[in-house]
Amino acid sequence: MSKEFIETLITKEMIDEKIDKLAKILNEEYKEKRPVFIVILKGAFIFAANLLTKLTMDLRVDFMVLSSYLGERNSSGKVRIEEDISIDIDDEDVVVIEDIIDTGLTYKTLKKKLLANSPRSLKLVTLLDKRSKRNVDENPDFTCFVIDDLFVVGYGLDYKQRYRNLPYIAVLKEE
Ligand code: PRP
Repeated sequence: MSKEFIETLITKEMIDEKIDKLAKILNEEYKEKRPVFIVILKGAFIFAANLLTKLTMDLRVDFMVLSSYLGERNSSGKVRIEEDISIDIDDEDVVVIEDIIDTGLTYKTLKKKLLANSPRSLKLVTLLDKRSKRNVDENPDFTCFVIDDLFVVGYGLDYKQRYRNLPYIAVLKEE
């Protein structure tokens, strides 16, 4: 049986620096607004926690639990909504926080569902963008890191529910 191991790809310091920059941009862009941030669980929980504590506008936070990878390396091709938001987003400025946009299928499904509730605006913030894997025409408005087609874990991202607690992003490899 092959043995898995991890190699650091993006350090905690690199992530902290990018989050600071992103927070400055969002603080400027939304300073006159009262946005609703929707955190997509499980993967985005660490990124969202660190980003949200650096935001200074009057904001609200809600959560959705979505899954399609079911802990595996490849998308099942179906996006399951396990839990929905409870805030009414009609006429609100909505910002979705994701850990990674890969094929884009999750965000495409989510966007259609959110737009049906008539937000005033809808934007997407992501920690990681695996742009080369995209097979739908959806792109984030704010991205911290564009990465190659590597299977990454850590900082919220998992393999079979493991590695989410790593304070950095690592590539999962097999011997
Ligand atoms: C991951 C990630 C995104 C989605 C991106 O979720 O958090 O929501 O996949 O992939 P896509 O662009 O190919 O659709 P996952 O299904 O692994 O659930 P998790 O966040 O609970 O780990």
